[in-house]
Amino acid sequence: MSYENILSNTYNGITTITINRPSKLNALNKATIQELHDALKIANKSDDTKVIIITGSGEKAFVAGADISEFADFDVKNGEKLAAKGQELLFDYIENLGTPVIAAVNGFALGGGLELAMACHFRVASANAKMGLPEVSLGVIPGYGGTQRLPQLVGKGRAMEMVMTAGMIDANQALQYGLVNHVTAEGELITLAEKIASKIMRNSSVAIKAAIKSINANYKDGVNGYKTEVKQFGKCFGTEDFTEGTTAFLEKRKADFPGK
Ligand code: COA
Repeated sequence: MSYENILSNTYNGITTITINRPSKLNALNKATIQELHDALKIANKSDDTKVIIITGSGEKAFVAGADISEFADFDVKNGEKLAAKGQELLFDYIENLGTPVIAAVNGFALGGGLELAMACHFRVASANAKMGLPEVSLGVIPGYGGTQRLPQLVGKGRAMEMVMTAGMIDANQALQYGLVNHVTAEGELITLAEKIASKIMRNSSVAIKAAIKSINANYKDGVNGYKTEVKQFGKCFGTEDFTEGTTAFLEKRKADFPGK
C-alpha cells in the first residue's frame, strides 16, 4: 500500500511507521490520521509484524500537533466530531491494538503529537525531544485523549500544570515524570526502540496481547481489571504458545512460539 503522509516499513518482525510531513513538523491532518489507521491495521493483521514503532521524519519533530490549519474555522459540532473521529481512528485504536506499539519521540511531541505518543503502549525519546500539550494557548483543550492519558502517566498535579501552562518539558523531565521510559542520544533512538522490540519479540505474542488487554482494563470505566486479568489468564491456557512456553521451560530449551 502506498501512502502520501507516512512511510511504513517492515523488517525483522518490526514495522516502523514514520509520519512524513517534515515541512509541517509532521502535524496530523485528517489524511495522515487515516493513513496511520490503515497502516496500523495492516501491521496488526500481518504475521510478519511482531512490534510496531511509530516515529516522525526529520530531526526536529515527532509530531507538532493536530494540523491547526484544518480546524481553525470549525464550529462546536465540527470540533466535537474532530475529536471523536480522531480518537476512534487513531488514539483509542492504538491503545487497544494487540500488537505492541512503541513511540520513538524524536523531537517536538506537542498537542496531538504527545497524545499520539501517549496512546502508544510506551515511549522512548531522544535527548532533543520536547513534550507538551499547548492547546489552551490556542483557546482549546487536548481532544485526542490528552486530558485522560497525561494524568494516568504523570499524575494529576503534573498534568494540570502542563495543560494549564501550555508549557513544554524536555526529555529528561519527561523521564523523571515517567512520561517516557528511556532517553537516548538522537542518532540512537531507533536502535534503542528496536532493541526493546527484539526483547518483546522473544515472548509469546498471544500472551502479550492478553497482557495489553488486562493492563488497559485498569483504565476503563466500569471494567473490573482483576476480572479481565482472570479471564485473559485462563484463556492463555488454551493457546499453543502456552504449551510451547511451558514445555520448552521443562525441556530446558528456548521457546519457539507459534503465536497462536
Ligand atoms: N499544525 C499545522 N502546521 C504546523 C503545526 C501544527 N500543529 N506545527 C507546525 N506547523 C507548521 C508551521 O506552520 C510551519 O509551516 P510553514 O513553513 O508553511 O509556515 C512549519 O510547520 C514549521 O513550523 P515553525 O513554526 O516555522 O517552526 P519553529 O521551529 O519556528 O517552531 C514549534 C516549532 C513546534 C514551536 C511551532 O511550530 C509550534 O508551536 N507549532 C504548533 C504547536 C501546537 O500548538 N500544537 C498543538 C496543536 S492542537
